[in-house]
Amino acid sequence: MGYLEEPGMFHDVFAHVPLLTNTFFVEYLLGLSHLGLTYLNDAAAIEVISRIYWFTVEFGLIKERGQLKIYGAGILSSLGETVHCLSQETTRFHFFLERIIYLNCRKDVF
Ligand SMILES: [Fe+2]
Repeated sequence: MGYLEEPGMFHDVFAHVPLLTNTFFVEYLLGLSHLGLTYLNDAAAIEVISRIYWFTVEFGLIKERGQLKIYGAGILSSLGETVHCLSQETTRFHFFLERIIYLNCRKDVF
């Protein structure tokens, strides 16, 4: 629960499935999927699409009425990620596509 090395049923059912009831979110996923299919043979484009997915669907935060909230499944399914991402210890960035595309990140630490 602190850090899931491999996605599992808890991650999928608890963290991914609920957002599939949100029309806006599903349309966003469809858009990413269409991009993925369009650029299937372009490794650089797939890397960009993967990063967008990673920093939104898996590790996205959103601010609603001034309150920071989690919607990324990778965070929601991990108690450790949840506590860490909302703490003062973490560095959060506003969503800027260029930053996401070029940001190097480690996936094995918070
Ligand atoms: Fe996931």
